[in-house]
Amino acid sequence: MIVSPPRIRLAQLPTPLVFLERLTAKMGGPRIYVKRDDLTGSWMTGNKVRKLEFNIAAAIAQGCDTIITCGAVQSNHCRATVFACASLGLKVHLILRGEKPAQPDGNNFLDYVGGAEISYFPRDVYKARLAEIVAELKEKYAAGGHKAFFIPSGASDGIGCWGYIHAAEEMKRDFAVQGIAPTHVVCASGSGGTQSGLIIGKALHGLAATIVGINICDDEKWFRDKITSDMAEWKSLHRHPLDVESLPINMIDGHVGPGYGEATPEVFETIKMVARLEGLVLDPVYTGKAFNGMLKEIGKGRFTGGDTIVFVHTGGIFGLLAQRDRHDFTT
Ligand SMILES: Cc1ncc(COP(=O)(O)O)c(C=O)c1O
Repeated sequence: MIVSPPRIRLAQLPTPLVFLERLTAKMGGPRIYVKRDDLTGSWMTGNKVRKLEFNIAAAIAQGCDTIITCGAVQSNHCRATVFACASLGLKVHLILRGEKPAQPDGNNFLDYVGGAEISYFPRDVYKARLAEIVAELKEKYAAGGHKAFFIPSGASDGIGCWGYIHAAEEMKRDFAVQGIAPTHVVCASGSGGTQSGLIIGKALHGLAATIVGINICDDEKWFRDKITSDMAEWKSLHRHPLDVESLPINMIDGHVGPGYGEATPEVFETIKMVARLEGLVLDPVYTGKAFNGMLKEIGKGRFTGGDTIVFVHTGGIFGLLAQRDRHDFTT
């Protein structure tokens, strides 16, 4: 029996599993499905909500009343955390990497709507001093009579993994109900926690599909190291007998483009094409970049007509709005 740690229900589950009939016909290769984790909620939506169910439950179990977390200015994770905390009556403090925008937009705009306390740090300071900044904030809150809990970037750690361990079980049920046997589950990897959870979940729940991550930043080595360390932390925290070191980590590198948060015009074209063909909205930072990568890999023959792929739509709609000036609507 699999005993998971305390959980607070935040996500609207189960999310739908949808067949992309017209895209499958257009590509002429594998059957393509989408697991709609962009529907885990509205403003509190995307893959992070599944993970936060466990990270925030851990914070409350430790008697904390304040959550500190971090990420990019347009972090979906930070925005989801703000609304999860507001809905539970917890304080939230965001440590954001980058300049304070003159006019907040997208996720960052919603951070303000949800009442987050926000500190901005230049990229180099954030990278060098994150642990100290967190320690200083925890002390500051303690001095004011509060107890703060830190959730790392993307809620990708040994606790957050549980979100996608449960999602793997949910998908196993989806596949049985729809009578399909997917060969691959593909996700965008940004901090690795979704993929770590799916890899462990596949092993625990006996999912046949191969789990594949398409990294949207950094490189294959960075993700192998991060996923290995998240899975090791999960194992040690929960004293689980699963041999996590032997679990395969399948990454498809080569689709990062100019860098984190920056996409090529081709990604924006794919976003438009998928929106118009299937009524599905992707984002340029995560899902659009990974989905475009997946289509390119189909073109190269990595996935073939005998395959059935499930793409996990991990959300990101507000990041799309923040890059409105990059869209070309002349075609
Ligand atoms: C919309 C969206 N998709 C995918 C990811 C990647 O998930 P993970 O950080 O678990 O790798 C993130 C966050 O990083 C995200 O916000």
